[in-house]
Amino acid sequence: MWKGLRLSFYHMKNLLIVANWKANKTEEEAIDWLREVSSRLDRDQISNKKIIICPPCTAISAVSDFIRSNNLPFEVGAQDVSRFEEGAYTGEITVTQIEKLCNYAIIGHSERRKYFNETDDDVIAKAKLLIKNKISPILCISDIKQLDSYLERGKVIIDNASGTGIIFVYEPPSAISGGGAFHPEDPRTANENAVLITQKIGSKITILYGGSINPDNAALFFSLENINGGLVGQASLDSSSFISLLQKC
Ligand code: PGA
Repeated sequence: MWKGLRLSFYHMKNLLIVANWKANKTEEEAIDWLREVSSRLDRDQISNKKIIICPPCTAISAVSDFIRSNNLPFEVGAQDVSRFEEGAYTGEITVTQIEKLCNYAIIGHSERRKYFNETDDDVIAKAKLLIKNKISPILCISDIKQLDSYLERGKVIIDNASGTGIIFVYEPPSAISGGGAFHPEDPRTANENAVLITQKIGSKITILYGGSINPDNAALFFSLENINGGLVGQASLDSSSFISLLQKC
């Protein structure tokens, strides 16, 4: 079925896996998950993987403290951040409020666009604030048109793209699980889009695939030549499913 698709020796490849818990888990459930995953996972099985956990903001502090005090091999990211610095912005969480707790923040997720009407200008404003405060944006891109639109809005993406300055995620909304019909992207198309994104950025970038990754398909997506890992939603919520996903890739 995947004949002709160029795969890399992914067992030797370093992978970046981002767990996006979305609006799930209390603080207590988050800590239970960490206990469970860290006690059942062999460190050798994740020696080639960097794992970033993105809890809801109510659990970031507890997750970050637990990871630090138990010396767990995980990092922490926020699921979003305000486009504003401190001030009269009811309900917002600012970069300075998260900067001591995490090194990463997801921005531009298509659910933020769909349910909260976020725009490309919002996303670029967030990217600027994160970079200024030394937090790496995990920048979601739904399609190439959207990347073009980001790039038209100044040089912040291009100037900070290399290495893990910005982590790019190619994530077509139709592939995201939960609500309505969804299906994972064809791996060939995912790989082609990763190539297009890299070419447009014009430097060596870290690029992940997102959308319906699960323990059964993760190894295939992560072995694609131009994909460096994944953004995992649903399959990261249950500790057993996340452990199985990590063990298989
Ligand atoms: P999913 O979500 O893995 O549940 O499809 C991924 C994401 O939207 O971050």
